Amino acid sequence: MKLLILTALLGMSFAQFNPNTKHGRTSIVHLFEWRWADIAAECERYLAPNGFGGVQISPPSESIIVTNPSYPWWQRYQPIGYNLCSRSGNENELRDMITRCNNVGVNIYVDAVINHMCGAGGGEGTHSSCGSYFNANKKDFPTVPYSNWDFNDGKCNTGSGNIENYNDVNQVRNCRLVSLLDLALEKDYVRGKVTGYMNKLIDMGVAGFRVDACKHMWPGDLSGVYGRLHSLNTKWFPSGSKPFIFQEVIDLGGEPITSNQYTGLGRVTEFKYGAKLGTTIRKWNNEKLSYLKNWGEGYGMMPSDKALVFVDNHDNQRGHGAGGGSILTFWDARLYKMAVALMLAHPYGVTRVMSSYRWSRNIVNGQDKNDWMGPPSNGNGSTKPVPINPDSTCGDNWVCEHRWRQIRNMVIFRNVVNGQPFSNWWDNGNNQIAFGRGNRGFIVINNDSGYLDATLNTGMPQGTYCDVISGQKEGSRCTGTQVQVGGDGRAYFKISHTADDPFIAIHANSKL
Ligand SMILES: *[C@@H]1O[C@H](CO)[C@@H](O)[C@H](O)[C@H]1NC(C)=O
Ligand SMILES: *[C@@H]1O[C@H](CO)[C@@H](O)[C@H](O)[C@H]1NC(C)=O
Repeated sequence: MKLLILTALLGMSFAQFNPNTKHGRTSIVHLFEWRWADIAAECERYLAPNGFGGVQISPPSESIIVTNPSYPWWQRYQPIGYNLCSRSGNENELRDMITRCNNVGVNIYVDAVINHMCGAGGGEGTHSSCGSYFNANKKDFPTVPYSNWDFNDGKCNTGSGNIENYNDVNQVRNCRLVSLLDLALEKDYVRGKVTGYMNKLIDMGVAGFRVDACKHMWPGDLSGVYGRLHSLNTKWFPSGSKPFIFQEVIDLGGEPITSNQYTGLGRVTEFKYGAKLGTTIRKWNNEKLSYLKNWGEGYGMMPSDKALVFVDNHDNQRGHGAGGGSILTFWDARLYKMAVALMLAHPYGVTRVMSSYRWSRNIVNGQDKNDWMGPPSNGNGSTKPVPINPDSTCGDNWVCEHRWRQIRNMVIFRNVVNGQPFSNWWDNGNNQIAFGRGNRGFIVINNDSGYLDATLNTGMPQGTYCDVISGQKEGSRCTGTQVQVGGDGRAYFKISHTADDPFIAIHANSKL
């Protein structure tokens, strides 16, 4: 009991559950593999004006450079040190991005890879993103420096040195994840190097971290790391603000390592969310949208105030990580928009929107042979800039889901309804649903194979509202469908299942 109370207290003092977003902004966007210069521009020209709270960036730390296959995205998850140059840019560009995004109230969250260094087969030389020498065979990373002593191999008891059995907690946390050299995070020296890296970024102005591969680290070690982190830079954040922490723990059930072993330390990525939303919208196992009345904790997910949620992430959108075939992505654009809209309308969790690049898929027996492909690149491997087309979409195979009207407008919807309760649920017992957020917003979705035709209680004040899915309010006019809410809060909705987007959303700021 005493121990429990102590853990709870420690957890509280270190716990960083607040994304520290500004101006009532509530969602984060992952600008996967974007260059720092492009993110800085995007903060100023698009994210701030459209109410995005922050950006998750790709790992800024010095990583191995892999040429076979040719510059895969996962090379950045193989650090060789903590110098700040990567294919997204150098330290000056990183600092400029953090400053410019902060100046327009958009936070930066860093993807921190602290469980491991590069793969054991990473070789020797200076094929690293800042050109530093390393020798993976000898576990020698002089730019940190780490040496043989700083790795867990002595504690791993599998023949291969890799994790072989996910039911063995010691293996999962002390052995190598797919051959990646596993840091001994219980050593004060290693913790010092890791926190030195994270604190440098905090001092530069970042607002928090996505911590990679947390399942593979002991919660006690992570607590030791988080406890040493600085408060946020007071140039942009209130004095004493703690970095936001969201930890990657893939828990779909069935393993001894669970999310709740980490929720005392910070938020945790809720992988059940996208997997389950995918099966429901795809109607697998006879699942129906009407079941979503209990969405969230009622579906066996972690408490809402501990969860970071997303429809897809950079791993499972290409079949890596968890979730399997049910995960919805931009490749299924129509269903995907519906899923993201549902997520952004629902109060559960802190929401993260994915922004991807297109690659040439080559699916053989359900497996994408090109799941390794890196971002749009020049012949020499440098990442291409993100060009913006006149219609505000992105070019050069950058997908920019966050700029799709339906998704961007629902990011704004979430800000408008922030703090309002889940209310006025309706369903037809099948795949037509509707719900509101107090008297500030209402969404109606039709995923049946016929019309939705119903008069529903929206909970909204009387007036004419502009649907922010088929269009939006521009000045005093509406470019989409108009919805009349009567004095009793009720409104008539008719949605064809063949509509471009078979759903409608209105909110307090879309009133005409
Ligand atoms: C790589 O190629 C691009 C486009 O041709 C060029 O702008 C860039 O300077 C090159 N980078 C290096 C390091 O050679
Ligand atoms: C609803 O779900 C199915 C999956 O069964 C999908 O193929 C269909 O396009 C969706 N319907 C609408 C109206 O989007």
